[in-house]
Amino acid sequence: MFRIFRYRCIILRYIILWLFIITTIKLTTILYYDLQQQSIDSTSLALPFDDTNTNKDKLFNPITNSNTSIIINRTTIEYYRKYVERKNYEQFMYNKHLFSSSTRYVLLVQVHTRVVYLKKFIEMLRSVETINETLVIFSHDFIDPKINILVTNITFVPVIQIFYPFSQQLYPDEFPGLDPNDCPRDLAKHKALAARCKNAPYPDKYGHYREVSIVQIKHHWWWKLNYVFNSIETLQNRSDLLLLLLEEDFYLSPDALVFLSKMENEQAKLCPECLFFTLGNLEKSGRQFEKLGSKVSIAYWHARYNLGMTVSYSLWKLLVKYAEEFCNVDDYNWDWSLVYLVQQRLNYPRVMWSSATRLIHLGSCGTHHKKTCSSESDIARWQETDKFYTNNQKYLFPTKPLSVHLKYEAKRAVKQTNGGWSDLRDRQLCLSFALKNTKDISQTNKKI
Ligand SMILES: *[C@@H]1O[C@H](CO)[C@@H](O)[C@H](O)[C@H]1NC(C)=O
Ligand SMILES: *[C@@H]1O[C@H](CO)[C@@H](O)[C@H](O)[C@H]1NC(C)=O
Ligand SMILES: *[C@@H]1O[C@H](CO)[C@@H](O)[C@H](O)[C@H]1NC(C)=O
Ligand SMILES: *[C@@H]1O[C@H](CO)[C@@H](O)[C@H](O)[C@H]1NC(C)=O
Ligand SMILES: *[C@@H]1O[C@H](CO)[C@@H](O)[C@H](O)[C@H]1NC(C)=O
Repeated sequence: MFRIFRYRCIILRYIILWLFIITTIKLTTILYYDLQQQSIDSTSLALPFDDTNTNKDKLFNPITNSNTSIIINRTTIEYYRKYVERKNYEQFMYNKHLFSSSTRYVLLVQVHTRVVYLKKFIEMLRSVETINETLVIFSHDFIDPKINILVTNITFVPVIQIFYPFSQQLYPDEFPGLDPNDCPRDLAKHKALAARCKNAPYPDKYGHYREVSIVQIKHHWWWKLNYVFNSIETLQNRSDLLLLLLEEDFYLSPDALVFLSKMENEQAKLCPECLFFTLGNLEKSGRQFEKLGSKVSIAYWHARYNLGMTVSYSLWKLLVKYAEEFCNVDDYNWDWSLVYLVQQRLNYPRVMWSSATRLIHLGSCGTHHKKTCSSESDIARWQETDKFYTNNQKYLFPTKPLSVHLKYEAKRAVKQTNGGWSDLRDRQLCLSFALKNTKDISQTNKKI
């Protein structure tokens, strides 16, 4: 009895000793990371989510920005923010004499920084038939006089410019841009927690923290959609509108809009349940105009049908209703987030697309193609594409009724998401675009 008690005492002492050792190691590690953090960033003593002004006047970004020569000019930023606010408020329409209350097609073009493409894009638009009966809205996330000159020089179509008000350019060192106290993308969660960087509790499903330039694309996409339907004065109460979503490096065939109108007109016969129309087609057969020039195909909408797709007013109403699916899914791609939403909530809606592609994506300088990126080769592709449509001219503008080339029945449910969208602040910002009048929030402090 006594011996057992003595053994117990020894075991107990061992346990206490080990606990002590483990705790010491743990504390040392945490202290070490803390010290390391403090040595590079003296403001890390601020609590996570503590919105003090300590960082406001700092010029450099010590944690993630190795290039310390980027100096933030507050005067310019204040000017740009005011500019955006004013532009979005004014909603000035260039070439208004061409706009009529029967204008139904709105070409909504998301523009980033690529001036070379935009110049060619505008040149191309000029030769799209019935372009003068549409409205073109350029949605910018970067202010650049070179871009503005191109846009304001347009004479053949009504144009409105809108500006995404939460861009990296306007918030270079605070959320939604990169806050100096945000966790670096690749920092492990336990280190992030120890370092007490702002978004430490929210790495994505792959353990990464947010990347501003990547999340901005989905934010901008969602913002512009909501802004156009909610906040553009001239388009209020227009439930007949059809948005065609484009980017600055797209090329439309001369008959793209005429064909879109034909698809709409014959929808009742071909696919009454289709919610989307798409002009682009990534398949190899998409180049066969001779064979497929007057055909359409049908499938359950998926990310691969994202090129030149349309969003009608009624579809947008449905999407906004399920904004939470779009904004809370851990996926930085707008198209995959949309796939997730429509599969969860809209029971696999169908898409009708042009079997011969009437839209070609030229850019190789986008998010997913960094390797072979060169705007010179893309301009060469532009000329090639121009020639391609010239060569196929006699198959454009089909007059006979459309017929169905392929009808896919596979549902291809989303099995996993791509991550990159786990930060609580991103989710809240995204939701705010759908749930509020964005014309108002662009004037309030969006700090979360
Ligand atoms: C840092 O930025 C400056 C100006 O933007 C640029 O000239 C320089 O090459 C950059 N340095 C590095 C290491 O990226
Ligand atoms: C900031 O930009 C403005 C306008 O471009 C310029 O006049 C001013 O000198 C700049 N300030 C600094 C500190 O560079
Ligand atoms: C658009 O252009 C076509 C051909 O150039 C012309 O027939 C038509 O009247 C124009 N429409 C408007 C609204 O100006
Ligand atoms: C403005 O448009 C005209 C054609 O209407 C073109 O010749 C000119 O080069 C354009 N200017 C700029 C700065 O793009
Ligand atoms: C839109 O419709 C609502 C309700 O019918 C009305 O109150 C509002 O004034 C209309 N807005 C415009 C711009 O016509």
